[in-house]
Amino acid sequence: MKDFNGSTAVYGIIGDPVEHSISPFMQTSAMEKMGFNGVYLPFHVLPEHLEKAIGGMKALNISGLNVTSPHKQNVIRYLDRISDAAEVIGAVNTIVNDSGALYGDNTDVYGYIQGVLKMGKTDVLPEIVCIFGAGGAARGVIYGCAMREEVRKIFIMNRTLSKAQIIADEFSRITGKHIMAFPSDDSKIRDIVPATGLVINTTTIGQLPDAGVSPVPDPSVFHKGQIVSDIITAPVKTKYLRDAEERGALTVNGLPMLAYQGARSLSIWTGMDAPEDYMLTIVRKHFDES
Ligand SMILES: NC(=O)c1ccc[n+]([C@@H]2O[C@H](COP(=O)([O-])OP(=O)(O)OC[C@H]3O[C@@H](n4cnc5c(N)ncnc54)[C@H](OP(=O)(O)O)[C@@H]3O)[C@@H](O)[C@H]2O)c1
Repeated sequence: MKDFNGSTAVYGIIGDPVEHSISPFMQTSAMEKMGFNGVYLPFHVLPEHLEKAIGGMKALNISGLNVTSPHKQNVIRYLDRISDAAEVIGAVNTIVNDSGALYGDNTDVYGYIQGVLKMGKTDVLPEIVCIFGAGGAARGVIYGCAMREEVRKIFIMNRTLSKAQIIADEFSRITGKHIMAFPSDDSKIRDIVPATGLVINTTTIGQLPDAGVSPVPDPSVFHKGQIVSDIITAPVKTKYLRDAEERGALTVNGLPMLAYQGARSLSIWTGMDAPEDYMLTIVRKHFDES
């Protein structure tokens, strides 16, 4: 048990629901490992209480908050300043209380990219990237990939083409990268995926309780030399990842993103190096993955 005192800095996560979050355990364990005098708690905040909750953060001098669904977009209006990345993505997952001025950032981008680089044991992403999905999480992942110098082309495939098209147009303009949108139908997947170095699932297809499905119905498009990643965390190994692994691709599940976004938030709050690998170990143990 940690020694708390009058100087203990208070952090937490707001969401609705929030009971499922591993962040309180992960962050408090990491703070202890760093010898940092802080505590991190879950706060169940209903959408209609969001403004009051953010006002309370100031009033109670809470040092920092993570923000999860459904507040990542709506919280922006209550903050004093946000990062360029949070502005482009349109979502904040980390709030810093800087002597009463609230600053919002998005560490999901760092978490995702760092996860692929570390698990792939590489310093660079492949030049061609294909992303399934155009929802909230997709925006951060696509932005993160587009901001990497080595990435030349990004294909976004989504059930609702118009949503993918909006992101492709907007992010091409902002980043100057070649980003194209396609419907996620079987023939397009067969055309695009085999020539792609990094294939990413950001859809909810394959998430529990529907773990028997995959966004890629024909697994023969996967092969050795590809990195195939999924940001779903339940199940830890989706059908999509199992199919890719069977065909020799290097696979990355959703746990590194979860651990490394948290590590980045902790570094921003404390100004210290967060124990990234330790945090990933904690997350893996929690999800029963050694
Ligand atoms: N590992 C992490 O740290 C982390 C972080 C954030 C999110 N996530 C996970 O990422 C996933 C996506 O989250 P999100 O917030 O981006 O969700 P979202 O905004 O609701 O987006 C869902 C996406 O999935 C697509 N989709 C859903 N059902 C589909 C179906 N039956 N057929 C085809 N496409 C379908 C949607 O397509 P349409 O546009 O056509 O509706 C959309 O592109 C969730 O599993 C979430 O838990 C993980």
